[in-house]
Amino acid sequence: MCGIVGYLGSEKASDIILSGLTKLEYRGYDSCGIFFHDTDNDRFITYKDKGRVHHLVDDFDYQYNNHLAIGHTRWATHGKPNQANSHPHFSLSQRFGIVHNGVIDNYLELTTKYLADVPFSSETDTEVIVNLIDYFSKTLAVEEAIRKTLSLLEGSYALLIIDIVNPDILYAAKNKSPLLVGVGSKGIIIASDVMALVGYADHYLPLEDKSVVTVSKTENQYHFELKDIIGKPLPTTMLEMNIVMEDIGKAGYSHYMLKEICEQPSVIRKIMAMYLENGSSLPDKIIQHFQEANRIYIVAAGTSMHAGFVGKYLLENIAQIPVEVFIASEFAYNPPLVEKNPYFVFISQSGETADLRSSLVWVKSHHYQSLTITNVPTSTLAREADDFLEIYAGPEIAVASTKAYVAQVAILLLIAYQLASRKPFDIHVELSRVAVAMDAIIDRRDYIQHLVRDKLVKHNCFYIGRGLDYFTCLEAALKLKEISYIQTEGFAAGELKHGTITLIEEGTPVIAVISQKTMNHATRGNIREVQTRGAEVIVISMSDIHDVTDQIVLMDVHEYLAPLITVIPTQLIAFYTALILERDIDKPRNLAKSVTVE
Ligand code: AGP
Ligand code: GLU
Repeated sequence: MCGIVGYLGSEKASDIILSGLTKLEYRGYDSCGIFFHDTDNDRFITYKDKGRVHHLVDDFDYQYNNHLAIGHTRWATHGKPNQANSHPHFSLSQRFGIVHNGVIDNYLELTTKYLADVPFSSETDTEVIVNLIDYFSKTLAVEEAIRKTLSLLEGSYALLIIDIVNPDILYAAKNKSPLLVGVGSKGIIIASDVMALVGYADHYLPLEDKSVVTVSKTENQYHFELKDIIGKPLPTTMLEMNIVMEDIGKAGYSHYMLKEICEQPSVIRKIMAMYLENGSSLPDKIIQHFQEANRIYIVAAGTSMHAGFVGKYLLENIAQIPVEVFIASEFAYNPPLVEKNPYFVFISQSGETADLRSSLVWVKSHHYQSLTITNVPTSTLAREADDFLEIYAGPEIAVASTKAYVAQVAILLLIAYQLASRKPFDIHVELSRVAVAMDAIIDRRDYIQHLVRDKLVKHNCFYIGRGLDYFTCLEAALKLKEISYIQTEGFAAGELKHGTITLIEEGTPVIAVISQKTMNHATRGNIREVQTRGAEVIVISMSDIHDVTDQIVLMDVHEYLAPLITVIPTQLIAFYTALILERDIDKPRNLAKSVTVE
């Protein structure tokens, strides 16, 4: 679920793998490993252990010449993060080495049926795959043995396989987990994320499910063959790489998250350029699908789901279209009673989230129309839905999503606006104001850092707000929990008194968000209720409804656009709290950027 990289070419393979793993570490990180062919001594070498990629990078012995290697960063699903469970894994005979992202659902059945005599050295589902390949290779050619194994596997996998008998070949396969083949002038690199290809590939190809790649070398040329699971050759139409090294660096910031927070005004300007300026607009086909639908079903997870809540509010209030929002992991197993003519909207930064993918499979099996709104145009969800909209946030590396959230909200706003029969504001004017208002609060981030230091670093915390502000509170709470590990809840301000107010004690931080005029009075009433019980309150408000005691006052924008602004100080609050607590901000514990397991 986190990352794999493999390389066969004329460059030093281990350098490419270690650099790739470092770029992929943001996706999850509890163990890592590398397996390569030591060309000078014609032998294979493995390094693997629990812990971060930088340990591997520090411990690695760089003297080896090598041109074939595979590497892995693990987000454990079967067995603890420890040395034995780290990848690569090997078949009993040691002939095959493998790295795997994903989960094999039927690994126990397969073990009983084919591998009852094999003593396993790890608790992973992965070891079953590599032993099956070995088992079938006794009677079949290696590529056929791999395809035979794949035909038995149920679940998700991105695989890289080395057969030590032939160090001029690298095998890869995938189902449900992402995998891309990159082609450069000096070799072929295969990775689970386009980030790892940057700098090494000029062109790339995102693989389809149940496809198998064989990379080989003939007369110092490297090439690959792509086949489906029954061995039929597949077309290899390559895409041009459009990400460069600078896009994935920190550009002088201490953390990716801070860089990404600060990029948000330019993300808004980019979205305007892509969808509003020079006669450009949202595609007619997508607008028509919204118009024809009796109900919109938004399916998303985490931060993207919070964007979905804002989207529901905007589509219902600006465009009068009924919308329901579903937690993707719930939708996949408990699909709702669907209205006639539904339109399903999948919102996902990565476009790879497994819970959304299984929901999309259900939607497609019912022949319903679908749209994916994502930051990654080559992602699985972008490719598999009927329609696709790019959010243009640029690569988001920090695990905690910030700029992708505002980009998702902005796109949903554009959709609602284009569908509105009566336009409630001038979208150009208001989005330009949003970008300026974002700049203004980002410029004052030192002030937020001081505020956080004085008031916020406690055991638990609450965000309260009403209407659109409630959704900002949900997102704000997730962000603070995610990177500071402080227990934080986002509450509808009026709901607190129905139970949760018992948790308010002397000094409990409560952050109130007030951007909606009609709710100002009521939320301020709720603030008094918690203050009376000892809460330490911070108020984030808009200039035209602010009170002199409010700590964070934001530039006015139209109320419908307020979620784009109010979220910024909450991201900064999360960032600076985590900084004070010395958390691993860009890679919080237990989390992965792209959740490719259900
Ligand atoms: C965001 O900060 C989180 N890391 C997480 O909730 C994320 O939004 C969720 O996993 C969904 O990911 P997606 O947008 O890539 O589908
Ligand atoms: N299921 C495998 C394991 O637990 C792979 C996990 C991953 O995607 O990193 O080792």
